[in-house]
Amino acid sequence: MEKIFTAGRLVIVGAGGFGREVLDVVDAINASGGAIEFLGFLDDGPVNKDLLEVRGATLLGGSDRIGALDCAYVVGVVDPSVRRRIDGQFSAVRLPAAVLVHPSATVGSQVTLGPGSIICAQASITTNVAIGRHCHLNLHATVGHDTTIGSYVTLMPGANLSGSVVLGDDVTVGTGASVIQNLNIGAGSYVGAGAAVVRDVEAGTTVVGVPARPL
Ligand SMILES: CC(C)(COP(=O)(O)OP(=O)(O)OC[C@H]1O[C@@H](n2cnc3c(N)ncnc32)[C@H](O)[C@@H]1OP(=O)(O)O)[C@@H](O)C(=O)NCCC(=O)NCCS
Repeated sequence: MEKIFTAGRLVIVGAGGFGREVLDVVDAINASGGAIEFLGFLDDGPVNKDLLEVRGATLLGGSDRIGALDCAYVVGVVDPSVRRRIDGQFSAVRLPAAVLVHPSATVGSQVTLGPGSIICAQASITTNVAIGRHCHLNLHATVGHDTTIGSYVTLMPGANLSGSVVLGDDVTVGTGASVIQNLNIGAGSYVGAGAAVVRDVEAGTTVVGVPARPL
């Protein structure tokens, strides 16, 4: 498994709401003995600088600053296509993507976490789970045994995956949604908030409701 990042220089790409939550993860790691030197945020869009200032955080500039960086990075942007683009750009200049795990998260045995993945507070991953590049497991998300998660996947707060689920790349599972065991959720699908997924989901499909049906 990628080494979990607890010490070293780090930038967060994306200074919006989730990016600032990622800074909370960094602060929690440092509060429990880590030594991450947070250099600042990179963002290509408009940024509320006041919200950064009160945290004592700096906006370093846009993602075009990569040439000037010598540090690890994570992408705190929810849109999977942005994570994919930044991953490509930053991999090309060999900047390492950090794996961040909040100290209150639980990560079981035989779990692999891909580069850039961020595991937020109280998230739980059980056993024999493989998670791809730049995935976000948000607050209280759970992942059951023998589940395989592609890259650029997002589990919103409180999303639950049962055992032996397969999630393709770029899947988003909305807040409070559940996926029962042994299902395949195709690449680029979106599971709406609060849905109960009880059948496979075809790639690129948005499903909502209980039981979940295509929107
Ligand atoms: C599923 C989702 C992606 C659809 O977004 P959208 O394409 O913009 O859909 P709309 O808001 O236009 O809604 C279209 C219809 O679907 C319904 N709908 C939307 N989301 C729904 C959901 N989660 N469950 C049930 N019905 C839903 C709407 O009520 C609407 O029905 P109507 O046409 O009868 O009024 C979105 O509503 C959602 O659930 N996102 C999850 C967000 C999340 O988890 N955020 C956490 C942030 S931390």
